[in-house]
Amino acid sequence: MKEIATLIIGDKEIRLPVITGTEGEKAIDIRALRQETGFITYDPGYANTGCCKSEITFMDGERGILRHRGIPIEELAENSSFVETAFLLINGHLPTRPELTRTSIMLNDQSLVHEDMQIFFQNFPRLSHPMGILSAMVNALRSFYPEILSSEEDFQKVFIRLLSKVRTMAAMSYKISLGHKVIYPRADYTYCANFLNMMFDSPVNPYRVDDDLVKALNTFWILHADHEQNCSTSAVKTVASSQANIYASVSAGIAALWGRLHGGANQAVIEMLSDIHEKGGGIKEAVEKAKSKRSSFRLMGFGHRVYKTYDPRAKIMKKVCDKVLPKLKINDPLLEIAKQLEEVATSDPYFIDKNLYPNVDFYSGILLRAMGIPTNMFPVMFAIGRLPGWITQWKEHMEDKEQKLIRPRQIYIGLNKSRYIPIADRKPIETDVAKG
Ligand code: CMC
Repeated sequence: MKEIATLIIGDKEIRLPVITGTEGEKAIDIRALRQETGFITYDPGYANTGCCKSEITFMDGERGILRHRGIPIEELAENSSFVETAFLLINGHLPTRPELTRTSIMLNDQSLVHEDMQIFFQNFPRLSHPMGILSAMVNALRSFYPEILSSEEDFQKVFIRLLSKVRTMAAMSYKISLGHKVIYPRADYTYCANFLNMMFDSPVNPYRVDDDLVKALNTFWILHADHEQNCSTSAVKTVASSQANIYASVSAGIAALWGRLHGGANQAVIEMLSDIHEKGGGIKEAVEKAKSKRSSFRLMGFGHRVYKTYDPRAKIMKKVCDKVLPKLKINDPLLEIAKQLEEVATSDPYFIDKNLYPNVDFYSGILLRAMGIPTNMFPVMFAIGRLPGWITQWKEHMEDKEQKLIRPRQIYIGLNKSRYIPIADRKPIETDVAKG
């Protein structure tokens, strides 16, 4: 028998269908609500709103579970590569060996960026943030590849193109920002090894690709590959819902990811830890400041909309830092500060009561620093990792017959109907600022 939720508004009772997900998650289907009652729902930040049915990623924020296509993130981080995880997300199953080889060949074939794009890069002001540049460049890809997606084959090509070229563009923008020669991708390197080589190789100082760093980068990108309906994915889908092209949609995702509450948090964490380090001590002060209602400061890398326990990705990231840094003989004081900060915060009643624990960004910046990635490139690293998620969610959205143009409603609280006053009759309005 179908489960029904009953809603009573005044003397009216309406019956709303209940939808149950494969992991037992329940939702009330309110699509008929406004038509039947004239009411809408009010849910700022959509914290209680399900916008789609999805087969891609499962999260349980209370139990700290994250699975892609049913496979726990811990197993993917341990055994998979970023390219394999991207294949899993987009195709719904792990690749066979021939499928994985074919994907690698396609990634290699798509890895070059049109030479004309370098001119764009060179004309951005030197201090431009790499996320702004990346968002603009991904949008510009549409002008270079204007074809319309009309088949599954076209789609796979665009998926591979974005995955491969965005990585090349990220490394290219770094080299150009230094005023150095751009290093081209190499057919004999894997996806992650290629990125590190494009970032750090130079004609005067050849780069030796380190297997431990390649493994760590694979893990970093696997941990960022998808996170269901997060802010940037929702931005991608919102733009896509107007039938804008995929490059414009992904470009919007990059812009949304840039913010400090989302993908910009990894950069903000390192700035916060460096600040504590430079001032000497200051861990307790940072925690107190984050708790204070008088300050807008938040402990960066702490808290999550969905996770009300330790973010499973943060657990893995912390372990990777503990393994990789000693191997590279790096003694980063920020790792120790982060651990102390975590200890102080997680035993403080404020953080315990509000279920605030380290999220993926808390330890990820320390790993990126160990790789030599500059701090302002951290959100770009997140963006490359999130590409498979954005594109997979984009595809699911486009194929879902129940989806519509995304267009929420509002509750108007402004002035009631008022008269248009000709300019000659208008009086200055006394504002608090004008009053002084
Ligand atoms: N430090 C101090 N207080 C916090 C923090 C924090 N990091 N996060 C939340 N709170 C408090 C917040 O002040 C509020 O308190 P009150 O109820 O007294 O007003 C309460 O906890 C709930 O916060 P919220 O902003 O309503 O919760 P949210 O679900 O909208 O916020 C969040 C989620 C991630 C935006 C928030 O936890 C935050 O700002 N964290 C710091 C930024 C960060 O690390 N972002 C990366 C998220 S993980 C990467 C990703 O997937 O995007």
